[in-house]
Amino acid sequence: MTDIILTGGTIVHENGRERADLAITGEAISAIVAPGTITDAKETIDVGGQHLIPGGIDMHVHFREPGYTHKEDWQTGTEAAAMGGVTTVFEMPNTNPPTRSATELRDKQRCAAKACVDYGIYGLLAEDNIDEIPGLIEAGANAFKCFMGNTFGNLPSPSTGAMLEGFEIIAGSGLRISLHAETASIMAWRQERLVKAGLNDPLHHIAARPEIVAIEAVARAAILAEWTGARVHVLHISSAGELRPLAEAKQRGVDITGETCPCYLFLNSGDYERLGSVIRVNPPVREEKDSQAIWEALNSGVVDMIATDHAPHTPEEKTNDVIWDADCGFPGVETQMPLMLTQVAKGRMSLEHYVKISSANPARAFGLWPMKGRLAVGAHADIAVLDMSREETVQAKNLHSRGKITPFEGQTTIGAPVHTVVRGRFVQRDRTLCADVKGHGRQVTSIQTMPKADPRNQDQSLATILAAGAAS
Ligand code: DOR
Ligand code: ZN
Repeated sequence: MTDIILTGGTIVHENGRERADLAITGEAISAIVAPGTITDAKETIDVGGQHLIPGGIDMHVHFREPGYTHKEDWQTGTEAAAMGGVTTVFEMPNTNPPTRSATELRDKQRCAAKACVDYGIYGLLAEDNIDEIPGLIEAGANAFKCFMGNTFGNLPSPSTGAMLEGFEIIAGSGLRISLHAETASIMAWRQERLVKAGLNDPLHHIAARPEIVAIEAVARAAILAEWTGARVHVLHISSAGELRPLAEAKQRGVDITGETCPCYLFLNSGDYERLGSVIRVNPPVREEKDSQAIWEALNSGVVDMIATDHAPHTPEEKTNDVIWDADCGFPGVETQMPLMLTQVAKGRMSLEHYVKISSANPARAFGLWPMKGRLAVGAHADIAVLDMSREETVQAKNLHSRGKITPFEGQTTIGAPVHTVVRGRFVQRDRTLCADVKGHGRQVTSIQTMPKADPRNQDQSLATILAAGAAS
């Protein structure tokens, strides 16, 4: 018997839409049928005039637990996701301790048990944990994160040598490696020179991390991915310049995807004076021309997805007259969907394309498809129900994240997720968090549904050569 029927709505897919009722049985979608066909569900919910899309899949959130729970924890972070129509998140390893070994991954799994939405957990690929990578894969890491440049947590950025060995090891697993693609040595050099010269203003943050920092990193990582056959993902694309090495790598057949985040689409250098250190994020928000190029790339498919780099800090940590002393990043998992739906309302992107970049493409890239990323019979009932004309105002004090500060303060949005369903269960209803949803979230599995891995040049890999040396 059907548990829930959502009746009277419009179901939106990445390639079209239909007026249909959606039935949920247990955790899955059990039918998509003509309106009014199913009448005997345990619960019938009228979603007349509303749109149903697959829940958002945000490949880039920092939930801070263990270690920095004054900024966020797995409960507050996933509650913010539920309020934002996001049904799956992938969480980053720059916690304290970082997720750099199987033991630390298992500790994080215990923290994540209180999540109310589904999640993946990133393992770290750094300078000092290469030997831990097989254990992380074995323990269930869903993907890897490589900080090519320093950011919050100051984890040691891997040298190109360490990166290559990490890629060689991970290639065989088929798991994707997400790159913080900013080259550490260039930034450290420039920041030191700026600090010595007493240059401390918000705009000097861009001066320390100009677009070449990102261009060089994307190009270098793409070459290593091409050589090893490792799958890679370029996080938070911030510049027009990165699009060329990304598009060229795709043309060469490298399994590479890219994401951008709302701040790179909606903010630019003209906002630094108004926002001060609040705008500080790595990589930095750049010029209007960068936003425009990224918009075009998002619409044309060069950039595959929208994520948030949800990076909560306290207002005190974010506010400092010396830009170098302000923490980087801000919360985003709750505001991404309303901000993007506002652009849909303005005609800048179709709702179908939004489904593709917010859910279908991330599901495909990280091995969650076909169970997630689409509304279809047999898939998980992970759903955001949208009121496309609902107006709201972003206010940090109302965010469910602990990070009560946002560069989007005061912005009016048009369109919001009015219900969020995760595997058949309402976690948010009528813009209110549901009771007793703590612990409903589950870790996803990535590998089974990924196409087979295609590692290359393994005869030249360090592991092969070291094993041969040991055997002789
Ligand atoms: O601004 C940022 N903040 N960029 C990152 O890559 C990390 C993040 C954080 O963890 O605070
Ligand atoms: Zn991040």
